Amino acid sequence: MVRERSRCLNVDIEAPHMQQSARRLIRVFLMTNKPLALITGAAQGIGYACAQALKEDGFDLILVDINQDGVESAAKNMNATAAYTCDMGNVAEVQSLFDQIENEHQPIHVLVNNAGIAKPCAFLETPIEDFQEVLNVNVVGVFTALQRTAKIMVKHNVSGCIINMSSINAIVAIPSIPAYCASKGAVTQITKSASLALAPHNIRVNAVGPGSIDTAMMAGVNSDEAAMQKVMSRTPMKRVGEPKEIADVVVFLASNKASYITGETINVDGGRLGMNYTC
Ligand SMILES: NC(=O)c1ccc[n+]([C@@H]2O[C@H](COP(=O)([O-])OP(=O)(O)OC[C@H]3O[C@@H](n4cnc5c(N)ncnc54)[C@H](O)[C@@H]3O)[C@@H](O)[C@H]2O)c1
Repeated sequence: MVRERSRCLNVDIEAPHMQQSARRLIRVFLMTNKPLALITGAAQGIGYACAQALKEDGFDLILVDINQDGVESAAKNMNATAAYTCDMGNVAEVQSLFDQIENEHQPIHVLVNNAGIAKPCAFLETPIEDFQEVLNVNVVGVFTALQRTAKIMVKHNVSGCIINMSSINAIVAIPSIPAYCASKGAVTQITKSASLALAPHNIRVNAVGPGSIDTAMMAGVNSDEAAMQKVMSRTPMKRVGEPKEIADVVVFLASNKASYITGETINVDGGRLGMNYTC
């Protein structure tokens, strides 16, 4: 079940004669005049950094994560408008989350579709259930959130912006994460497809493709010297990236400075994709 976990602004308008829609409009008006950004997977890592950077850029925040304690704490740290616990891999939960958000908040201006999982395993041993789970979160969850957000934007005539978190694994593969590689390839194409469908509504859809970024997802590599040496041998800038270096690109894409960019994936990888490993 999707539950709202914390709210910093909550105006209660309970005049009994007033229609529900009128009450909602007044609530929206009183709540804020800042644009609203929704970030999934916001409890830690890249999602947390994106939320922080958007807040600094003047957005109000709705944070979503499967980790209830984590998303509550992030919302408190950032003075977010709301935080929700939701499994982005469960379509029914995601639909219910958006029903609730649509009822309780002003229209969303920016979606950062960031929640993602990898489930590494030897290729031949990869359980089909793990493969499916990765696709559910990284592809079906991303599409559902994108579609629901776009419907809200179209309905309210919002010239919004949607940013999907892809990966350089949309292009280069690793044998132990086949579902992850497939899912990020799908994110690239969902991004392009959505950009075409939504351009007539003045909604831009882009993606960011991080290389190796210092988060929990990379912890296994970061703590393994041999694995790290391998990654560095393929990274011209000879370091992993910081979550903020991804967040800064997200803020750029969400801004008017990116007003003519849509359907693109910007890779932020310290030069990795430009390198021919055989040289
Ligand atoms: N770290 C990297 O090197 C790297 C590289 C390329 C792409 N990415 C992408 O960036 C995004 C964020 O990754 P990160 O490195 O910050 O990882 P992370 O594991 O540090 O954070 C992921 C966040 O998503 C949440 N999450 C996981 N499953 C969820 C679900 N089913 N529903 C809702 N929330 C869920 C987690 O609780 C966590 O807060 C992912 O889409 C990932 O594929 C990361």
